[in-house]
Amino acid sequence: MQQYKMEMNDKLILVENLALSYWHNNVGVHSVKDLLTLRKNPFTLKPILHDVSFELDKGQSLGILGRNGSGKSTLLRAIAGIIKPQKGRVVVNGSIAPILAIGAGLELELTGFENIKLLLALYGQSKNMAEQINDICIFSELSHEVLNMAAKCYSAGMLARLAFSISLANDCDILIIDEVLAVGDKGFQEKCVQKIYELKSLGKTIIFVSHFPDEVEKLCDKALLLENGTIINQGNVNTICNQYRQLF
Ligand SMILES: Nc1ncnc2c1ncn2[C@@H]1O[C@H](COP(=O)(O)OP(=O)(O)OP(=O)(O)O)[C@@H](O)[C@H]1O
Ligand SMILES: [Mg+2]
Repeated sequence: MQQYKMEMNDKLILVENLALSYWHNNVGVHSVKDLLTLRKNPFTLKPILHDVSFELDKGQSLGILGRNGSGKSTLLRAIAGIIKPQKGRVVVNGSIAPILAIGAGLELELTGFENIKLLLALYGQSKNMAEQINDICIFSELSHEVLNMAAKCYSAGMLARLAFSISLANDCDILIIDEVLAVGDKGFQEKCVQKIYELKSLGKTIIFVSHFPDEVEKLCDKALLLENGTIINQGNVNTICNQYRQLF
C-alpha cells in the first residue's frame, strides 16, 4: 500500500483497487498452550475488502452504505491509514480527523476529561486548550460529573457524544463519521446533522457512514454501496440510497 500526498489539485482522496484481509483465529486458540499443541498455523487471512476504488473531490461529501459487516468501518480505517491494505493504494491530499467511531479511539479506563485532554494533545492543536475543552463540553452536553467518570461507565450514546464532540475540535480537511447518529438521541442527532451541514458549507470534505439513507440523502453529494467488501454501486446519492433500501 502507498499512502502519500498528491500534487495539489481538486482530488482529495483517491482509493484504487484496494484489497484488505484480516487475520482470523478460526480454531479457537486462546493460550500459548493451545498454540503449542496445534500442528498447523491456526491463523488464516480472511479477505474483507475486494478491489475497492473511488475518488472524492475537495468539499464533496460521500455516504457509505452497506449491511452490518460489509466492510464500511474497515474501509474508513484504511483511508485513515490505521490499517494497511495488502493491495492497491490510498492517496490522501489533506489532513484527516481521527475516526472516533462509537467508543473506538477513546481510552475506556480514562475519564471523559482525560480523554479530551489526551486527544487534544495528540492532535497538537494550536488553539487554546481550555477553550477547546469548553467547546467540547458544550457540544457534547455531558455534565462535569459525567466527564469525571471513566469512559467505560458511559452509555453508547454518551460515548458517541464524547467521540463526535472531540473529533469536531480537530481542524482537519476531512471528517470521517462512522455511525455517530445511530446511538445518539433525537436531540443529539439533529445537532450533529446541523454541525455536519455547517462543516460542509465551510468546504470540509466529509465521509459519512450511516444506516440511515434519509440522512445520507440530505448530507451527501454522492454515495457508495458495499456488499461483502465489494462496491456494488456508486454515484448518485438517491440511486444508491434506494438500492440500499431494497436490500431489506
Ligand atoms: N479487527 C478485526 N479482526 C478481524 N476481523 C475483523 C476486524 N474488524 C472487523 N473484522 C471483520 O471484517 C468484516 C467487516 O467489518 P466492518 O466492521 O468493517 O463492517 P461494517 O460494515 O462497518 O459493519 P457495521 O455496519 O456492523 O458497523 C466483518 O466480517 C468483521 O468480522
Ligand atoms: Mg462499522
